[in-house]
Amino acid sequence: MENNATVKKDRVLSLIQPTSVPTLGNYLGALKNWKEMSEDNDCLFGLADLHAITVRQEPAKLRKLSYEMYALLLSIGLDPDKNIIFTQSHVPEHSQLGWILNCYTQFGEASRMTQFKDKSAKHADNVNVGLFAYPTLMAADILLYQADYVPVGIDQKQHLELTRDIAERFNGAYSPTFTVPKPYIGKAGAKVMSLQDPTKKMSKSDPNPKASVSLLDKPEDIMKKFKSAVTDSEAKVRYAEGKDGINNLMSIYSCCTGLSYEEIERDFDGKGYGDFKTAVAESVIEELRPIQDKYSQLINDKAYLEQCAADGAEKARRIARKTLDKVMRKVGFWQIKK
Ligand code: TYM
Repeated sequence: MENNATVKKDRVLSLIQPTSVPTLGNYLGALKNWKEMSEDNDCLFGLADLHAITVRQEPAKLRKLSYEMYALLLSIGLDPDKNIIFTQSHVPEHSQLGWILNCYTQFGEASRMTQFKDKSAKHADNVNVGLFAYPTLMAADILLYQADYVPVGIDQKQHLELTRDIAERFNGAYSPTFTVPKPYIGKAGAKVMSLQDPTKKMSKSDPNPKASVSLLDKPEDIMKKFKSAVTDSEAKVRYAEGKDGINNLMSIYSCCTGLSYEEIERDFDGKGYGDFKTAVAESVIEELRPIQDKYSQLINDKAYLEQCAADGAEKARRIARKTLDKVMRKVGFWQIKK
């Protein structure tokens, strides 16, 4: 008989940039899956603050948002005693491995990343080297911990593919060193769209406040935003090509209620978009309520949050150091006894 105690759990890792309060897109595309996967896997989750500075950040705001994001991760139900919840900049091994992986990544590969192209166009006055090397640092985040799965939204899939290529290349050049990670992308919610332009991804940086819902929005604001969501003129709740607005609302509703698209179509047969929008807003409000309640309890407990962050960094470092030492030995660096 199999002895459960000896079965190795899968290692799961994912990070989020602390550049604003997370949106419903971040939550349904990533954070909600983090929480679900945290129950039976060996998980590391945290803040990608090194990635955040590839776009200019105001120092005091970045510090505040990082603290708040850490509190939010615990508020969605991640348990710092069972999983490792940490901040990337607290673990210097990320930068160290990131540099090494730069030397195993081709200029052409990094140039092909769509996020690099999009962000270069959006921040044309600051196309810095960090923006270009963003995916190799992300590869370092993942490979340092030998992650089996990486729960992300679909926009990060290309970075995951590059990470796999880098891992395979390094393993091939030396000997097996890195676990080759797989993306974990949910069926619904993998790409939550803007409520005002459902052909565009819901994004933290959208200047139109009605386009995105934040995890800390008040219930009445969430209701208003869904009521003003852009739909179409067919007035029939069904999932179909060309109905981007309704498809997006159905995907959000499906994530929050667990109902399939067929069940949703059946439940709203003969009903108008007004009823549907109200139901979607209510399901989101209910989904976020426990998170917001927990957040308001935790946010002022600075001593507790700082202790969790310090413990998380220490636990993460222990794992990261092992991989980095192995990599440095294989590459040929002179290693001295500490
Ligand atoms: P970030 O901070 O942009 O987003 C965090 C997570 O949210 C997902 N996401 C979405 N999912 C569905 N619909 C949306 N509209 C939406 N917007 C964002 C993202 O796919 C992501 O999973 N590069 C990463 C951070 C990172 C990372 C890593 C992730 C750094 N190192 C290592 C995984 C593993 C990023 O910018 O995420």
